[in-house]
Amino acid sequence: MMQRTLTIIKPDAVGKNLAGGVLDCFERAGLRIVAAKMLWLQREQAEAFYYVHKEREFFGSLCEFMSSGPCIVAVLEGEDAIKKARAIMGATDPKNAEEGTIRKQFASSVQENAVHGSDAPATAEFEIGFFFSKFEIMQTKRKN
Ligand code: CMP
Repeated sequence: MMQRTLTIIKPDAVGKNLAGGVLDCFERAGLRIVAAKMLWLQREQAEAFYYVHKEREFFGSLCEFMSSGPCIVAVLEGEDAIKKARAIMGATDPKNAEEGTIRKQFASSVQENAVHGSDAPATAEFEIGFFFSKFEIMQTKRKN
């Protein structure tokens, strides 16, 4: 099933010049970049994006980190894109991530874990819409 998912290359990875390496992993896994932009989230935007975690003890520091520098948000498209992107990203905590995954290669801690990916179709829809309008997402074939 063709799907779209949202990824964020987080401020730690962008700051360490690892954005290209992260995108390369997604492309090699067969996912296509159909939208992308760089932005520096405001604290309030980070809080709104991660609202599902608002009761967690790490919420404050997560939002502080996510608004600490520029990140790259992108929409990836492909067969089973949500599952595929999460497999190539690896476990949230890089200590538990498998060899060859993005987080194993590039992440430094459970918080500064280089990359985010949507975890389910409903989440992907919310997260893509959070950053992109439908006109900013490329169609495979343009009609006009
Ligand atoms: P992400 O996939 O973006 O989803 C929520 C984020 O919260 C997660 O990656 C981490 O950056 C962060 N996170 C998850 N668990 C913890 C934790 N135990 N301590 C600090 N940050 C966490």
